[in-house]
Amino acid sequence: MGTDLLAICYLVASVTFILGLKMLSDPATARRGNLIAAGGMGVAIFGTIFLYRDRGLALHNLGWIAAALVIGGTAGLLAAKKVKMTAMPEMVSLFNGMGGACAALISISEFGRLGAVAADRGELLIILAGVIIGSVSFAGSMIAWGKLNGRIKDVVFRGQHALNLFFLVVVVGAAVYLMVGPQNIATVLFYSIVVMALIYGVMFVLPIGGADMPVVISLLNSFTGVAAACGGFLYDNKAMLTGGILVGAAGTVLTILMCKAMNRSLKNVLIGSFGATASTAGAAGGGKEQGVYREISLSDAAMVLTYARKVMIVPGYGLAVAQAQHACHELEKILTEKGVEVKYAIHPVAGRMPGHMNVLLAEADVSYDNLLELEQANEEFPTTDVVVVLGANDVVNPAAKTDPASPIYGMPILDVELAKACIVNKRSMKPGYAGIENDLFFRPKTSMLFGDAKKVLQDLIGEIKNL
Ligand code: TAP
Repeated sequence: MGTDLLAICYLVASVTFILGLKMLSDPATARRGNLIAAGGMGVAIFGTIFLYRDRGLALHNLGWIAAALVIGGTAGLLAAKKVKMTAMPEMVSLFNGMGGACAALISISEFGRLGAVAADRGELLIILAGVIIGSVSFAGSMIAWGKLNGRIKDVVFRGQHALNLFFLVVVVGAAVYLMVGPQNIATVLFYSIVVMALIYGVMFVLPIGGADMPVVISLLNSFTGVAAACGGFLYDNKAMLTGGILVGAAGTVLTILMCKAMNRSLKNVLIGSFGATASTAGAAGGGKEQGVYREISLSDAAMVLTYARKVMIVPGYGLAVAQAQHACHELEKILTEKGVEVKYAIHPVAGRMPGHMNVLLAEADVSYDNLLELEQANEEFPTTDVVVVLGANDVVNPAAKTDPASPIYGMPILDVELAKACIVNKRSMKPGYAGIENDLFFRPKTSMLFGDAKKVLQDLIGEIKNL
């Protein structure tokens, strides 16, 4: 009876995971989808605690399990409540690392319980896959976390990729040897594999530029999913298996989508060190003069916006840094009251993580109906009077279309220059993430409105109110 009930719990959990994932694809249902999937996870966890039986015996160590749940749950809740929008990739990385560590620990404890001799070859294969992928994901995610919060710097040296490849071959080779070789060294070999997989995880992420971390985190996320699915196989736990497969597949799809939206191959992200060169170029390229740009005063900007028929706002990473989403919505409201049609053009990789702008604007209660995706927005720019670019740079850089030598060449961009006028807000002429100049700032239709996005928007709203 208990076993049947547990199977139903796992079925319910699996269905909620699929449903939740589907709902996460739309900003209007994402929050609910997350809660539904979390509810399903709760059912699976408590079902396992109270209904699981092994040869008729219930789970013991309930005190430890309760303590881990309370400590882990509280830490997770506090971290999620406190995290700033711009630090979200960092937190995702940390949480993903914990998932990888759990998957690796499951494999380690199963190896300790079964041993290499007792375990059948299929089980041993899954144990090894779980421990290798989980350890790489854990170590890699910790490095990614350190890079994103600035504690760990990029480490690049000659022959690094060859060395990494060698490490990977050694780890896989040792795993194969453990499966087929003499059993007396199995335990030593197993723990050496764990250590080597951890080292490989560190080495694999160390050279990748800090700015490429969201792609790497998404990839590591898919690793964690696969490692968790290995745990599901080991325990014959359907909820873990479904959850792991979904995370693995979603992480892979997301990685591919992010690479496509940046027009870069995964190989280029992993061994191209674009982010690393970009930051160097960014520091150096800051002062490079490319032509004459025009500035616009707050009062002129207020006037232009108020008398426009249609305005398109392009949010970017700078908007998130400035936490200007509420001021941005305020501007939208005041312009709408004055009869201006206001929409938002959302580039798929604006910001530093997938959906960054959607989540940010949703936080400020901007209606989803006003958010246009890249293709839609590009269709509407020719009929737009004024585009307001708020802390965005690369995603509006025409070099992506015109300069084959540019690192962002081929990346789809928002064609803001098709509008009648373009006001760009940023703090200086410094480049963005890709570290390159933006010709848009020097074009005749463009005028620069310098300053912190939040402050500028607040002042702009004040000016419009006084008109
Ligand atoms: P960026 O190209 O990074 O430009 C952001 C601009 O915001 C900077 O030029 C900066 O100029 C300005 N800024 C910073 N703080 C500001 C503030 N407080 N107020 C006003 N402006 C401020 O951003 P983007 O256009 O959103 O493009 C995103 C980039 O990140 C792309 O290259 C993309 O490939 C990359 N990327 C994105 C993702 C995802 S999934 N979103 C993942 C990995 C990489 P100043 O310093 O002059 O103010």
